[in-house]
Amino acid sequence: MHITSLSASPSERSRSAWLTQFALTRLEGRAARHDDILVRALPAGPLLAADVQDAAIAAAVQSVEAADLLIVSTPIYKAAYSGLLKVFLDLLPPDALRDKLVLPLATGGSPAHFLALDYALKPVLSALGARHVLDGVFATDAQLRRHEAGGYVPEPDLIARLDRALAPLAPRMRAPLEAAVSC
Ligand SMILES: Cc1cc2nc3c(=O)[nH]c(=O)nc-3n(C[C@H](O)[C@H](O)[C@H](O)COP(=O)(O)O)c2cc1C
Repeated sequence: MHITSLSASPSERSRSAWLTQFALTRLEGRAARHDDILVRALPAGPLLAADVQDAAIAAAVQSVEAADLLIVSTPIYKAAYSGLLKVFLDLLPPDALRDKLVLPLATGGSPAHFLALDYALKPVLSALGARHVLDGVFATDAQLRRHEAGGYVPEPDLIARLDRALAPLAPRMRAPLEAAVSC
């Protein structure tokens, strides 16, 4: 399975980007290929000018188009996904996410916006053709405590919700889902 992860926080020590990497570890080697896109590392000028001829932008778009599973992670900003994420998603061609599995992830400072993936991001994913969207996973900052050695420590409840979201990718269910992805 080709997995592309798209992390859209401007922060260097990003909780949502860390959650993405953690989700990959829970997939236990299911990725035949993994591309990691940090939107903040893309060239800002071409990104803001929607220059899809730029080599780095074109490679990132192509990586999304080639993915079987796209993991999209974002911090919650002003009760929605980050502007950085929208700037990138706006570069994708219509129907770019059709026939892909999509896992939405978000981290936010307060539980008040735990529905932001449902009311803000999922309609955008749907507009891009996504029809196979796994359960979104929202984590509060308190559920991802800083680790003194770097990284974060996820609460057991968060791990359980992440594993539940990824359950359709378990080997016993692989055949029907891969059929759905390839149709
Ligand atoms: C500009 C800004 C706006 C934010 N708005 C919200 C918000 O509306 N709701 C919320 O729960 N957290 C909000 N937060 C907190 C972040 O979503 C939270 O700290 C998140 O974990 C950051 O993710 P990151 O480390 O991947 O950037 C905001 C943070 C910033 C910097």
